[in-house]
Amino acid sequence: MKYDVAVIGAGPGGYVAAIRCAQLGLKTICIDKWINDMQKASLGGTCLNVGCIPSKALLDSSHLYEAISEEASSHGISVKPAPINVETLLARKNEIIGRMSQGISGLFSKNKVDSLLGTATISANNMIRVALNDGGEQAVEATNIIIATGSVPVSLPQAAVEQSIVDNEGALEFDEVPEELGIIGAGVIGLELGSVWRRLGSKVTILEMSPEFLPTVDRDIAKEALKNFKSQGLNIKLGCKVTEIENDDDYVSVTYENAKGEEDEMEFEKLIVAVGRKPFTDNLGLDELGINRDDRGFIAVNEQCQTNIDNIFAIGDVTNGPMLAHRASKDGIMVAENIAGKDKSANYQSIPWVVYTWPEIAWAGATEQELKEKNIAYKAGKFPFLANGRAHAMNCAKGFVKILSTEDGTILGMHIIGPNASELIANGVTAISHKLSFNDIIEEIHAHPTLSEAIHESALDVEKRTIHF
Ligand code: FAD
Ligand code: NAI
Repeated sequence: MKYDVAVIGAGPGGYVAAIRCAQLGLKTICIDKWINDMQKASLGGTCLNVGCIPSKALLDSSHLYEAISEEASSHGISVKPAPINVETLLARKNEIIGRMSQGISGLFSKNKVDSLLGTATISANNMIRVALNDGGEQAVEATNIIIATGSVPVSLPQAAVEQSIVDNEGALEFDEVPEELGIIGAGVIGLELGSVWRRLGSKVTILEMSPEFLPTVDRDIAKEALKNFKSQGLNIKLGCKVTEIENDDDYVSVTYENAKGEEDEMEFEKLIVAVGRKPFTDNLGLDELGINRDDRGFIAVNEQCQTNIDNIFAIGDVTNGPMLAHRASKDGIMVAENIAGKDKSANYQSIPWVVYTWPEIAWAGATEQELKEKNIAYKAGKFPFLANGRAHAMNCAKGFVKILSTEDGTILGMHIIGPNASELIANGVTAISHKLSFNDIIEEIHAHPTLSEAIHESALDVEKRTIHF
C-alpha cells in the first residue's frame, strides 16, 4: 500500500507524529522494532520502555517506601517495618509499561494509523525496506518519511555493559537492592536512579567528571540541590576523572583521579554508567541516501525538522536539541501539520526541564547566569517553601521558587526546587510562552493552601513586597 507518511520509530516523537498525521487525514504507517525482555514488541520507544515512565514508576515506589519508613510515625501512623519486595516493585513498573504500550496500540487503531513491527531501512527517498520482527521483509512506499529513531546510551570504553555494570536499562532492573552502588555521571539519569536505589537502601556514590554540579541549571538551584542530595546521603563527588574500571566476580572496582588530582579507588556491587546519550541511526541507510548528519552524529535538520532531502524529516532525540520526550512530541506535531499544508514552527524557549528527585527541580526559560553572560538587565524574585503552609503539611518545606524578569517585568525564567516542582513549572511555561509580566502573576488569585502560592510570592518578591516572608 502507498502511504502519505511513514514514521520510523514509535517513541514519543514518532507515535505522536503518526497520530497527528492521521488526524489530519494523511494515510499513515508507523514502523517500530522495539522488542522487550519477554521477546514481545512494545510501542513507546525509550520513553515508555526504559526511560521516562519506568524511572518515574520506580521513583514513586521508592518515595512511598521512604515516606512510610521515615515519615509515617510523625503523622501518628504506626507501620510495622516491611522489607521491600523488589520483584513486586519491578512487576508493578512492568505492568505500567505494558498498559501504556497497549494504550498506544489502541490509539493507533482509533486513529487508523497502520503499525508495522520491524527494522526500517530507507532504500530510496520514498521507499522503506522493513525487516519484520517475525521474519521476512516488507516494502513500504511513502510520499513523506519521518525519522524518529531516538537515542541510545553513550558507553565508556573501560566499562562494557554486563551483569554488574549497567546502563539506564539495567539500572531499572536490579533484582535486589545493591549494597554499594556506584554511578558514573551526575546528570539527570544518575540523580534520578541514584535517588531510587538510595531510598531503597543502597549506599550510593556518584562520580562526576565536571567540577560543577548540574552546570546548565540556575546556579542557586544547583547549589540548593547539591546541599539537599548530600544531606539525603547521596555521595556526590565532583571533578572525578575515571581512569580504570575492573570487574571482579564480587565487585566492580573504579579507579579515578579526584578533584585534587590524586588517584583514588572505590569498589561497588553494581555500577551504573549514565554519561549521556547519542543519536541512534544504525541500519537507516542514511549514507546511501546522502542524508546529512552533524559532527556528533545527529541528523541535520532545519527549523521545520526537514533534512537535506525535502520529503524526509527527522524529529526528537535523533536530532540535536533537548533530549526530552515532550520536545520529540512537539517536533512530531509540527512536522505532521506542515506535511498537511500548514505553516507551523515550534518555539522551544519556554520548554520545561525537570529532574524528578525529591525535592524536584524544574525550570523554564533563562537562568540567571545566562542573563548575566548576555548582559541582559533583569529583576529577580525568590520565595522559600519554608514559608509555605502546604509544603509544611506535606513534610517538604524545602527549596524555593525563583522568577527572573526584564526590567519592565516580562518573565524570562522560572526556576523551582521543591515539592511537586514538575507540576508547578507549568505556570512558568504559560508565563514565558505568553510573555506575561510578574505583575500578571501578582494580580492572579492562587488557592490557599497550595504550593503555587510560592510562585505568587516570588512574583511579589520582585518588588520586595512578599507577605509571608
Ligand atoms: P525514542 O523514545 O528513543 O524512540 C525511538 C524508537 O525508534 C524506538 O522504539 C526504537 O526501537 C525505534 N527505532 C530505532 N531505529 C529504528 C529502525 N531502523 N526501524 C524501526 N524502529 C526503529 N525525557 C523526559 O522528557 N522526561 C523524563 O522524565 C525522561 N526520563 C528519562 C529517563 C531515562 C532513564 C531515559 C533513558 C530517558 C529519559 N527521558 C526523559 C528522555 C526521553 O526518553 C527521550 O527524550 C525520548 O524517548 C525521545 O523520544 P524519541 O521519539 O525521539 O525516541
Ligand atoms: P546527562 O547529559 O544528563 O548527564 C551525563 C553526566 O555525565 C554529565 O554530568 C557529564 O558531565 C557526566 N559525564 C560524562 N562523561 C563522564 C565520565 N567519563 N566520567 C564521569 N562523568 C561523566 O546524561 P544522562 O544522565 O545520561 O541522561 C541522558 C539524557 O536523557 C539527558 O540529557 C536528558 O535529556 C534525558 N533524560 C531526561 C530526564 C528528565 O527529563 N527528567 C531523565 C533522564 C534522562
